[in-house]
Order: sequence, then C-alpha cells, then structure tokens
Amino acid sequence: MTRMLPCPDGAPTTLIDVGALRNTQALGERLGRSAAPGDVLLLSGPLGSGKTALTQGFARGLDCAEVINSPTFTLLKEHLSGRLPLYHFDLYRLDDPEEIWSLGFADYFNGAGVCVVEWAERAPDAWTMPNLWLELAVTGTHKRRITGCARGERGYVLLAQCAL
Ligand SMILES: Nc1ncnc2c1ncn2[C@@H]1O[C@H](COP(=O)(O)OP(=O)(O)OP(=O)(O)O)[C@@H](O)[C@H]1O
Ligand SMILES: [Mg+2]
Repeated sequence: MTRMLPCPDGAPTTLIDVGALRNTQALGERLGRSAAPGDVLLLSGPLGSGKTALTQGFARGLDCAEVINSPTFTLLKEHLSGRLPLYHFDLYRLDDPEEIWSLGFADYFNGAGVCVVEWAERAPDAWTMPNLWLELAVTGTHKRRITGCARGERGYVLLAQCAL
C-alpha cells in the first residue's frame, strides 16, 4: 500500500523519535489527559508499529482501566469506564471505506466520547473532521518515529502535547 503523508499541503508536521515502548505509551497518556469530547486521533503505520501501545497509554490518560488490545474481528470496541467514553476503532479488516458510513460510525466522530482509529489509512477520505493524525514507523527494535499532523484547532491542541 502506498503510504501517503496524511497532512494537507502546508500544514505543519511534527516528528517525534521514541526509543522505548514506555515512551510511546507516555505520549498516548499525555494525549488522553488532554482529550475532550469529540476528539479524533488517527493512527497509521505497519503491523507492530505501536498503534495499540499508544492507545493503551491514551486509555490510561482517560483513567480507563480496561484492557486495550487490537480487536481482531471487530472494527470497534467501546470502553466506557474512563473520564470520557473511548471508541477504539481498528480498521485493518475494513473491506470497503464506505462501510465507515454504512455501519453508522459517523455518530461516534462528534459524540460525547473520543475516537482512536488504528489503520486510519484504510478509509483515507473519511477524516474531514478536526483530528490529529499520527503515522508510526519502525526505526529499530524498540525505536519508533512518529509523524504528527494536525487538522483544525483540536488537532493543534493535541499536537502540542506531542512536543512536551
Ligand atoms: N518504542 C515502541 N513503541 C511501541 N511499541 C514498541 C516499541 N518498542 C517495542 N515495541 C513493541 O512493538 C509492538 C507494538 O505492537 P502494537 O500491537 O502496539 O502495534 P500495532 O501498530 O497496534 O499493530 P497492529 O497493526 O497489528 O494492530 C509491541 O510488541 C511492543 O512491545
Ligand atoms: Mg493494533
């Protein structure tokens, strides 16, 4: 699959190099602490790049104690025990990008909770709402390079957390 840089032309990107799993999780946790209702965090990158690890940190930042894993056969898992509802999407098995709409997922994207979407690149045209897109790349056994791109004001607020 061609990997495109998700940023629209001209939007600033941020590069973050992390050297250990706990740093990826800590980044997720900062984002979770800053999250507000309706926020959308998009994650892309290959198998094992750390999308779920980052989501685990994000859940911790929401004070959500539930186990977060890669939902193998479901596209969406809802975690309701934290400060805000967490809607955790994994679009790896999305057959057709249109399913995002036909399955009624639109309601989640401006709802009371926050959406974290693994494999966001499977529905490349869906993300017109404000969002932060993080593209994860494997640069070593424990190293990851994360490219962040914000769209809209909430995207920028979350992006600022990445630089801390
Ligand atoms: N710095 C790091 N950040 C994230 N994960 C790391 C890091 N270093 C090592 N890892 C390991 O890489 C793996 C990341 O797995 P994870 O399930 O988070 O990836 P994923 O992108 O969600 O994959 P999938 O596409 O299969 O859902 C874990 O085994 C984790 O321990
Ligand atoms: Mg995963």
